[in-house]
This record gives sequence, C-alpha cells and structure tokens, in this order.
Amino acid sequence: MLDLFPDSTSVDGGQLSIGGVRASELEVAHGTPLVVLCEETIQARARALRQAVGDGRVFFGTKALPNVAVLRLLLSEGIGADVASSGELAFARNAGLGGGDLVVHGNNKAEVLLAEAASVGAPVVLDAPDEPALAAAAGVRQALVRVTLGVDADTHEAIRTGHHGSKFGLPPDQARAAVSEALDFGLDVMGVHVHVGSQLADFDAQAETIVRLAAFVASCRDELGWVARVADLGGGFGIRHHPADEVPEAAELAASAATTARLAFVEAGLPQPEIWLEPGRCLVGRAGITLYRVGSVKRLPERTWVAVDGGMSDNPRPQLYDARYTALSAARTDEPVDEVVSIAGMHCESGDVLIDDVMLPSPRRGDLLAVPATGAYTLAMASNYNGVPRPAAVLVRGGSARLIRRRETIEDLLRVEVE
Ligand SMILES: Cc1ncc(COP(=O)(O)O)c(C=O)c1O
Repeated sequence: MLDLFPDSTSVDGGQLSIGGVRASELEVAHGTPLVVLCEETIQARARALRQAVGDGRVFFGTKALPNVAVLRLLLSEGIGADVASSGELAFARNAGLGGGDLVVHGNNKAEVLLAEAASVGAPVVLDAPDEPALAAAAGVRQALVRVTLGVDADTHEAIRTGHHGSKFGLPPDQARAAVSEALDFGLDVMGVHVHVGSQLADFDAQAETIVRLAAFVASCRDELGWVARVADLGGGFGIRHHPADEVPEAAELAASAATTARLAFVEAGLPQPEIWLEPGRCLVGRAGITLYRVGSVKRLPERTWVAVDGGMSDNPRPQLYDARYTALSAARTDEPVDEVVSIAGMHCESGDVLIDDVMLPSPRRGDLLAVPATGAYTLAMASNYNGVPRPAAVLVRGGSARLIRRRETIEDLLRVEVE
C-alpha cells in the first residue's frame, strides 16, 4: 500500500513520515484534517511529463489543486497552467505566471474572464458558438477551438467530456465554423483542443480521439485552408487511489498521446503539431495525503464505524465519483492490521463515508489516519458543509514542512455573513 503514497514516504518505529517529516509531528504543528504534499513527488511527475512531450508544452490543470505555492513550484519546472475562472487565473498570476504560461478554458466563460485573458495575453480555448465574437470583442488575440469528437471514455460519467452531447466543446461542424469565424475576426487561431475525460486508466479513448482530431484538422485545411499549429490534448491521465487500481504511469500515457498525435497528423498529410497537455490529477494526486484524527469508534453487529474529523467537506470524491480510498494508521504502522472497519466522516449525512472497508490495527480514539492519493480534487472541491473550516496544506521536503495554505477559521466563515 505504501506505493500509493508520495515518493518520499518512509516508516520507522511505527511512524509514517513524508518528506522526512513524521505525520505525528505534522499533526501537532498544524492540526487535522491536514493535506500533506510532497514537493519531490510533484517535481518528479513534472519532469517526467515534460520529458514525455519533448518539445511540446505542459499546463497544469489548476482545478485539481489551485494553490499559489504549487503553481510556483510547477512554473519553476517549466509548467504553465490551464485556468477556467477568474479565481484560478488570479492564483496563477499570483504565482508569477504570465500570459504565455496560460491557457484559458471554460464552457461558459464570463466576459470578465475573456477581458482578463486579453489583458495578460493568454490564449483562450473557444468553447461556444458565439465565443469567437465575444473573445474578439474582449481583445483576445490568440485562440484554440475545443472540439468534441464523440468518443466515450471509460471513466465515471461525471468526468467524461468528449462524447457527443457533452456540455464541453463543439461538435466538428460547429467547431469548424468557430475556427472560420475566429479567423474572420482576425484572431490567431493557434490550434485545436480535446479533453476526453478525467481519471483515464488506459489510452484507448485518447488514441481514438487523436485519430479523429487529425481528420478534423484535415477537414479544416480542406474547407478553410487553415492548419492547426498546436494540438492541445487536454489532461485526464489517471492515478491509483486504491491498492486494487491498475493505472499506467501518466508519463507513459502522455508519451503515447504525444507520439500518436504527431503520427496521426503526418498520416493525414498535416505538419507535425506542437503538443500541449493539461494534466492536473497526475501531477499532484499521488503527492498528497490527508491526515485525520480518529474520534468515535462504534462496533456494531453490522459494521465498525471509525469516525474522523473531516469527510465530505474536505474530500467529496467518494460521493461524487464512488471513489475508493485506503488508509494507514500513521503512528501505528508496525502493528498488525487486524480489524476491518469503515471510515466515516463527521458530517450530518449517512452518505458521508470516506472508506467503505479498510483493514487497520484495531482503531481507537486519538489514532492518526493517513489517506493516500488525495492531492488532487480534494482540497480543490472542499466545502464548508456543517460550518466546517477547510483544512490547511503543507509542502514537505528534506525534513521540513512549509505551510502553503492556512487552515480556515470560523472567523473566516463569519466574515462573509451579512446581518
Ligand atoms: C479542459 C481540461 N483540461 C485539463 C483537465 C485536467 O484533467 P486531469 O486532472 O484529469 O488531468 C480538465 C479536467 O477536468 C479539463 O477539463
């Protein structure tokens, strides 16, 4: 199970450490729930993905973990950001990213987001029939067009995006019309964009999409005399969240995507495109663990409930995507795992179950639990349900931990209330 944890994970004397810092020390210093991110793991994944795309470009899917320190770390590795709101854009700008480091997304972009993209000089991925006009009016200069090519990815339906009828992108006829209109408005239409879905566990849907993408670009050349310079293949590379999951390394999938796209374009008689990727989950997912403190333990005839001090407010993925996780007793790693238990959250919903069943050393109040593979789409999707402040996050490396997001306080929550 340690292979689900960050690269710098070790166990010694029953204690789990990440980045050379004991989980129990992090608990004392920062409280729980706490998101612990390993800098080394993020860096290693960043480097592997950069290598996989060769002379292409990598943009971090900010939605996976909007955090200024993480964006800055990725920028230092030559990785830009895909942003899909003014908020995400502000995070990226605060991290020092310039227009050339950004790609602006959204199936319903606010006019203010288009204006901001224009003012920083970021390319915009057009995603609606009237967006060429709106983007041109806002002063946007560079654009891509997002096309949906009717491929059903084998992933949870909530994160499947490239199928016919998707709310994202435009079907080929409408996408071609958008290219044509954007050109008429004088935009530099750099290329095309596809994103078939998230948490992809194999390359099949992407491979099919890429072949159809090359055919789409060839049809644009034939009908409009326009050829894409950039093929932005989106993100979607999955990670393992549970010991039973089988997912290849993201860098392997990314390299296959880049090679397949270059070949498909050449086979369609097109010049080789510059490959862009927008991975989110695979850059930060495995780098993160969440630490929880165990509270009540209820041994019922039906099952044993072990309740922790967080739940669906810091990780809604079990409810949204039926996500499966596992856990480790972080200060008792040397004890035999002798009890099957369910990990419940502290929220007022029976569905607030973090893990259905996991083997732990017989749990008791005060235990520290570590849930691996929680760096992506957890804190990013956290809420204040039940008036719970969202957790803190630390970045660990070489024996020290740096706070990169402070824990919210109840005062933070009250600050937006108007009496
Ligand atoms: C357009 C786009 N790019 C990139 C991503 C990042 O996806 P992932 O985190 O699965 O790599 C998403 C996720 O939904 C997306 O919609």
